[in-house]
Amino acid sequence: MPIPIKDTKLGWIGAGRMGYAMAERLAKGGCDIAVWNRTREKALPLEKSGAKVVNQLEELSTKDILFVMVSTYDDVKEVLAKALAKGKPRMVVECSSISLEGSGELRKFLSSKGVEYLAAPVSGNAKVIKAGKLTFVVSGPKAAYEKAKPYLDMMGVGSSYVGEGELARIAKICHNVMLGVVIQNLCEITVLAEKAGMPRHAFLDFLNKSVMGSMFTRYKAPALVNLDFHVTFTPKLLRKDLDLGLDAGRELEVPMPLTSLTRDILQQMIGRGMTEEDFSTLLVVQAKNSGLELKPENVPVGDGLG
Ligand SMILES: NC(=O)c1ccc[n+]([C@@H]2O[C@H](COP(=O)([O-])OP(=O)(O)OC[C@H]3O[C@@H](n4cnc5c(N)ncnc54)[C@H](OP(=O)(O)O)[C@@H]3O)[C@@H](O)[C@H]2O)c1
Repeated sequence: MPIPIKDTKLGWIGAGRMGYAMAERLAKGGCDIAVWNRTREKALPLEKSGAKVVNQLEELSTKDILFVMVSTYDDVKEVLAKALAKGKPRMVVECSSISLEGSGELRKFLSSKGVEYLAAPVSGNAKVIKAGKLTFVVSGPKAAYEKAKPYLDMMGVGSSYVGEGELARIAKICHNVMLGVVIQNLCEITVLAEKAGMPRHAFLDFLNKSVMGSMFTRYKAPALVNLDFHVTFTPKLLRKDLDLGLDAGRELEVPMPLTSLTRDILQQMIGRGMTEEDFSTLLVVQAKNSGLELKPENVPVGDGLG
């Protein structure tokens, strides 16, 4: 018989853009969830949804399932070393986008402590999570996956189990390499269409209704049309993922020419100090390099998320 949702004690580390929205779904779904964030104030509004915000990482050390959603592998190591200093959870589900090597190292560390471990990176941004459309790609022991699955399902449209070990990390890296290459290409063609004389909203309306349109190209349309570059994912986090992809390509002897080029284009943008807005500011760079001055079109554009 499945264990009732409320009887599993969940811990959550990291209430950034992604972690906050994910933990909020579990809290609103009625889970028993305690959250820690380095900047405590950012997590506090989660209490309105039923989560408990704790002061010390150690307070999460004996949870049934401990979720982690921070930035890089170094951050994951740091928070888990503290959280596991004096106790151990039954299972850790690590959702940040980290390298294959980092994930493998983490598996060894957790296995030495007798803690089950799932690598469970995600696809989607905070808006996607709010719309209930987040997806997970998961690897690790199948039995652990079956235990975590109800909670993964509560955070979005479900998860894909891809096998043992760190396979989910490679799947996520491949996914984000595609994200980088697609956004750069989308910016190139949008600027090309505008320079030829058509409004961005008209071009993107066509593209998004076509076979080439996707959930991603649709939800990026408002940003590209009205130049709303509120950050959903930073250029530096995207660069990290392209670097992870290029490292994996080198390791496995797979040429990745489009990824290399996209990484350099993104680096030029970061080098100009464009680091604090959304990664889709690649559009601004593309326009500048094309002698085009961008203006918001101030046209209401749906994001396709419902
Ligand atoms: N944004 C997206 O669209 C997206 C999509 C899929 C996957 N991801 C991945 O999800 C992860 C989180 O992304 P995000 O956009 O949510 O980033 P974010 O908004 O920058 O949040 C980062 C979180 O990590 C915490 N953190 C960072 N370093 C830490 C440290 N050394 N010790 C303790 N806490 C630390 C931050 O705490 P503070 O609040 O104190 O700074 C914050 O809670 C990243 O690995 C990213 O690549 C992001």
